[in-house]
Amino acid sequence: MFMFSAGAALFCSALAQYLTTRDVELASEILCWVILPALIKLKNRYGSTGTTSNTLLVKTPSAVVSTRAWLFALGLAAACWYRAEEHIVILFPALTPLLLLSGVVPAASLTTDSKLFWPPVTAPWSSGLIAVFSCLVLVSSSGTRLPSLAVCVVVVALLYGGYLSISRPAAVVDRDAGDHGGQERPDDAAEGAQVEDVAMPLAFRILPLLTVVACARMLTSKELKVALVKTVVAGFAKALNWFFTLKTIRQSSWCSASTIGTFAITSARTPSLGDRSFYLHAAFNLVTSLLALGQTIHMIPKGAGPRSRLWALGVLPLKPLLENMYRINASTMLGPRDEYPVEVLARTAEAKFDAMLARQSRTYSAAVLEYRRRYNMEPPPGFEAWYSYAVARASPIIDEFDIIHEAIAPFWKMSGKKVQEVMGEASGAAGADLWWCMFKGQTGETSCNHPHRGGTHIQETFGRWLGGLAGKIPDVEFLVNHLDEPRVLLPGPETANDQRIRLTNISRRPIWDTLTRSCSRKVTSASSGIQGASVDINTHGLPFVTDTGADKDLCQHPEYRDMHGMAMSPCSFILVDGRVPVLTTGTLTTGGDVLFPSPVYGEYGDEGFVYNDTRDVEWAQKRNNLYWAGSSTGAYAGDDGWKRYHRHRFVALAQGLETGREHWYLRRGRDGLFHQVASSSLNRDLFDVAFTAIIQCRHDLCESQREYFDVRPRADKDAALGSKLVFDIDGNGISGRFVKLLTSHSAVLKQTLLREWHDERLAAWVHYLPVSQGLGELPELVSWLTGTEEGRRRARLVAERGREWAMRAMRHEDRGLYVYRLMLELARIQDPERQAT
Ligand SMILES: *[C@@H]1O[C@H](CO)[C@@H](O)[C@H](O)[C@H]1NC(C)=O
Ligand SMILES: *[C@@H]1O[C@H](CO)[C@@H](O)[C@H](O)[C@H]1NC(C)=O
Ligand SMILES: *[C@@H]1O[C@H](CO)[C@@H](O)[C@H](O)[C@H]1NC(C)=O
Repeated sequence: MFMFSAGAALFCSALAQYLTTRDVELASEILCWVILPALIKLKNRYGSTGTTSNTLLVKTPSAVVSTRAWLFALGLAAACWYRAEEHIVILFPALTPLLLLSGVVPAASLTTDSKLFWPPVTAPWSSGLIAVFSCLVLVSSSGTRLPSLAVCVVVVALLYGGYLSISRPAAVVDRDAGDHGGQERPDDAAEGAQVEDVAMPLAFRILPLLTVVACARMLTSKELKVALVKTVVAGFAKALNWFFTLKTIRQSSWCSASTIGTFAITSARTPSLGDRSFYLHAAFNLVTSLLALGQTIHMIPKGAGPRSRLWALGVLPLKPLLENMYRINASTMLGPRDEYPVEVLARTAEAKFDAMLARQSRTYSAAVLEYRRRYNMEPPPGFEAWYSYAVARASPIIDEFDIIHEAIAPFWKMSGKKVQEVMGEASGAAGADLWWCMFKGQTGETSCNHPHRGGTHIQETFGRWLGGLAGKIPDVEFLVNHLDEPRVLLPGPETANDQRIRLTNISRRPIWDTLTRSCSRKVTSASSGIQGASVDINTHGLPFVTDTGADKDLCQHPEYRDMHGMAMSPCSFILVDGRVPVLTTGTLTTGGDVLFPSPVYGEYGDEGFVYNDTRDVEWAQKRNNLYWAGSSTGAYAGDDGWKRYHRHRFVALAQGLETGREHWYLRRGRDGLFHQVASSSLNRDLFDVAFTAIIQCRHDLCESQREYFDVRPRADKDAALGSKLVFDIDGNGISGRFVKLLTSHSAVLKQTLLREWHDERLAAWVHYLPVSQGLGELPELVSWLTGTEEGRRRARLVAERGREWAMRAMRHEDRGLYVYRLMLELARIQDPERQAT
């Protein structure tokens, strides 16, 4: 009978551990302490041995019991709260040696026949070593952070206090309480009676404490999810666990409670599938759980039955391992081998990019022919000087300026006079927030004005690009957007004759329908050039970006409505409705802005966005993880939707804040092919990601965000260079740090919804690694880039190719050339002599 209890305790504790997830932790614990006294009552009523216990259940405990029970309840509640936060009490194994050292002796050591008492697992010194090993294994495979470990120490101390106080046999309950066992020695009898019969008083103390914890968690806005079935099942498993554990303790000692608990934690644990040392960690888990099992067995007194049968429970910790092996098989089999999707994507992109580079025009006449072929019109006046200028500056790109053409094309429908007129109208409108700039062809000088803003950075930036171009560009006027967000939505064809300009403030509200109003009219097509689709690449169901153009296309992705701050609650979006050329640094696929390179980046950019070689770190010295730190920009948080803003989603994912989120990984099967494997685990060590400031939010929502995220102090702008992988993500507009990161020796992972001037010359998977809006492939991608030989090689290659290309095609000169060519086109469409076509 007793062996059965021990076996059942081990089994139920592992089961409870396996069934309880963080979201049902508290609720199931509360349920457990409701069920447990009922279970004991039932057992006493119908059980065969129960004689006197019935009366004891309702007996009021003495003051001593009361204090001890409170201590015990406190430890349990603390542990439960910690598990609700961190899933397992990672230092739990330390309890065993602590209890042993405090003189809580296992029953086995008291038996005269010590043949089966095996000191190596139950002596305090060796159990100390085992505990250290177990804790190390648990900590290393969970990536628990230091503050959390410190809290864990406190929790374990409380548990220790609780266990210790309640394990003291004497005077806890009256001696007569324990006389139903018969065979036990007096000490054990007392202890045994105590643990089973105080279940009710314990429950009376634990329940209010747990309720307080639950309320506190609800008040700090960490909502308690009600997953009823899951809670009930987990609650029952926990109650059965305590029921059998208490019975086991009765014959053994409180040390068993900690070894049983350790067995549960380690045997139910599956290492993260994103963890490339999966098998090593799985093996360590197996060893730790077998050690805990051995300890439990050897704490049972000899007379209790055939202890060795309990070793059969050693199959439990094999379960996660076998399950994983079954799902993914071993990777040692020969046969056709899939290539990793990123390798295929990268190779395809490299070929496309190399071909694009190779076909750039080598002579002026070839450039003219190419211009005519692409746009079916003559190049603008001054094109020959532009070509010579480009050659003189060794520009590797001569023909790839479709972005300019596409932005300018709508204005051909208006006369040159009309273009000038709408520009005047738009810039004069109240609250337009546009800079009015003028380039004087004769002197080569640029001047910019804003109705109410000071500062000269726009004027200086254009001055640097266009200085020295006197006589090469005609007089030209242009409008520059002051805000981070894009501005222009072109009217549809049905309003082609309506050439009025309307300004609307659409800040701080959902604007998806406005942004996508042109979608139904637009025929979506595959992207062109190096952004184009690689449709035939098998990504095994993970959303690796195969076509950066299509990935950004709002019309193809209705789900973006709730995924990007700009669509949900832009910080400052003053929409210019109508056909006006406005220069903006980044726009949406549906936007009508004319793109120009951001003044914040590059050699003359803002401090912090400028790359400085001396601050970079050798590849070998860089940490093998993904870095991002920044503010919570991207939207204004005026309602509860902030968890779905792009930056917030990314940080929550990287910090592992979304409980119950499934991550997808790829594993090579026995058949040599990749298979998708789901896992709720994420290797947090691979992500050094945090908000360093919570801004742009209503006061109370700022508070909620500070609570939800692990916010860190402001970081050095060059801290990113210490990591092999760096993340880049949109803010309110484009990310100003992109060029700096690209130029560095780190590999850039970039998620963006915005088009930029450089889209035609930068190749995804060659110069940077694109990341989808949903981030579904990010855990696998990061795990591959950091954890495999092949992935690390690819990361380094991307880092170096991105750097080399940034220094060749994204220089100050290259931005100048782009703006020079843009000015030629702008001058042509605003030429007052030109008629509408
Ligand atoms: C290995 O995986 C393949 C493909 O999923 C499956 O057909 C096969 O049965 C697996 N083998 C084992 C031993 O699980
Ligand atoms: C635009 O609207 C937002 C929210 O309604 C407001 O806070 C902001 O001041 C407005 N901006 C301008 C320029 O009117
Ligand atoms: C780069 O950093 C070094 C040392 O921090 C500084 O002396 C140097 O002036 C910086 N170079 C540039 C171009 O900013």
